[in-house]
Amino acid sequence: MATVTFENVSKRYGDVVAVDDLNLDIRDAEFMVLVGPSGCGKTTSLRMIAGLEEITDGTLRIGERIINDVPPKDRDIAMVFQSYALYPHMTIRDNLAFGLKLRHIPRVQIDARVKEAAAILDLTRYLDRKPRELSGGQRQRVALGRAIVREPEVFLMDEPLSNLDAKLRVETRANILRLHQRLNTTFVYVTHDQIEAMTMGTRIAVMNEGRLQQVGTPQELYDRPINRFVAGFIGSPAMNFATVEFTSGNEANALQGSSISAPLPPQFRESVGASGRQLIIGFRPEHLVLGPISGGSAVVNAKAEVVEYLGNEELIHASGAGRDIVALIDSSFRVRPGDMLELRIPLDRVQLFDPDTNFALPFGPVTA
Ligand SMILES: Nc1ncnc2c1ncn2[C@@H]1O[C@H](COP(=O)(O)OP(=O)(O)OP(=O)(O)O)[C@@H](O)[C@H]1O
Ligand SMILES: [Mg+2]
Repeated sequence: MATVTFENVSKRYGDVVAVDDLNLDIRDAEFMVLVGPSGCGKTTSLRMIAGLEEITDGTLRIGERIINDVPPKDRDIAMVFQSYALYPHMTIRDNLAFGLKLRHIPRVQIDARVKEAAAILDLTRYLDRKPRELSGGQRQRVALGRAIVREPEVFLMDEPLSNLDAKLRVETRANILRLHQRLNTTFVYVTHDQIEAMTMGTRIAVMNEGRLQQVGTPQELYDRPINRFVAGFIGSPAMNFATVEFTSGNEANALQGSSISAPLPPQFRESVGASGRQLIIGFRPEHLVLGPISGGSAVVNAKAEVVEYLGNEELIHASGAGRDIVALIDSSFRVRPGDMLELRIPLDRVQLFDPDTNFALPFGPVTA
């Protein structure tokens, strides 16, 4: 069982708290992505699993075994780093075999594992070449191959795609996912790129400033972010936010802000609190619609300032609701700078946040 369990794990460097009281259960054979902005503690968390960083507090387990004091070589993990230095004077075959030779694995077994890894990664025809005779993407696959031949219980990867150009990144991303399906092993994958996280993760752990914010499937994080940080970090372009006030009247309950108004979305009926409360409303660019929609909606009035044509869609930067609003809409509307827009958001897509705690208001049933 290759589960990885963080129990109240902290890592401090003097006064710097790199990882603060982390609790995270990584399941057997899952593809767990750690994501967050630079400096949030992703690499430190991964290096603690690898045994390259001492744990200041808490307990770290692989399976049932506590590994706090187990040396890296006895942990049955393999790590792929962002910089994947290969030995330039060795062939690809020898680069793949090197770690196994150090471990005194029998020659026949080494040959078999190298052959299999090369086949999985489509490197068979390059085995007798030197690293300089390969493209960047092929070299990256060799780095993955070095990890595969180890046959570890857990793969650890720290931004392994960041040295590749955009096209190769997409290809290699798919390769790593295929590898995961084929090996059916636990992967822990670090990236600062939320798109990589969304496309690759079985589940995603979002971190900020050393603290775990939320763990969930990509869809859970997209649909139900727990706080403003996760709401703004997951999704591209980022979620729009605006200040509104809740008013409860005889006729209707409503949210009202500068250039934005909405009936109270039914999912917040239980959690909205008292009339007069200030709230932050959140809505995603792709959920804004020009023109009428069926069912209840929030309405935003905004003036288009910049229009980026993307083919089938247009990205509109507009001013409204007291701030910049970004909308992704069908390009057939042919919005021009200066146009006054009436944008609508389906009520079930609206998020609300407490301005003091930044936590999302809990969702109740969406239906009336
Ligand atoms: N050896 C060290 N000594 C002191 N502080 C450190 C050390 N290593 C990391 N830190 C600090 O710990 C925090 C977390 O660093 P970490 O490398 O885990 O971030 P990260 O999330 O991987 O960021 P990035 O996306 O930039 O790689 C940072 O504030 C960093 O400055
Ligand atoms: Mg890092």
